[in-house]
Amino acid sequence: MKKLLPICAAIAIVIVGCQSSSEAPAASTTASTNNAAVGSNFAAVQTTFASKCAGCHGDTNPKDGVSMVSYEAIQRGGSHGPILVAGKPEGSVLVDVLRARNGKKQMPPSGPLPEADIAAVEAWIKDGAKN
Ligand code: HEC
Repeated sequence: MKKLLPICAAIAIVIVGCQSSSEAPAASTTASTNNAAVGSNFAAVQTTFASKCAGCHGDTNPKDGVSMVSYEAIQRGGSHGPILVAGKPEGSVLVDVLRARNGKKQMPPSGPLPEADIAAVEAWIKDGAKN
């Protein structure tokens, strides 16, 4: 009877092992669903641009030719060229002005947006600056 004890223990370990490995796929399914939800589109940044930028970057005579009123206008860029590189927030003038870096003037001129808003713009560009 005593000899059965290690065998029982081994079976118990196998059962526990099987249970935890059968839970693993469920957990990774949840994670991939969450990742898909993180990908942002224009809706995530549109309100910020409309309320904080469009006053000076509207349809009529926008500063530096940069209109922030629509997805298409932002893709067009301004009088100095494109203002964003899809997938590359670090190479985008749009982020340079929000962070007042690479010699760019602070936008909006009254002071930086809340960090969460700047991060949302960076995430949008990083995700491909989709409409
Ligand atoms: C109060 C007016 C005003 C507001 C609000 C404003 N801008 Fe500007 N923006 C300007 C002016 C003026 C310029 C021209 C640059 C200069 O001052 O030399 C400019 C230039 C720019 C440029 C071109 C920079 C370059 O070097 O090509 C970008 C991009 C830009 N703004 C983005 C934004 C964004 C994004 C917002 C909102 C977060 C914003 N601006 C809000 C006035 C404004």
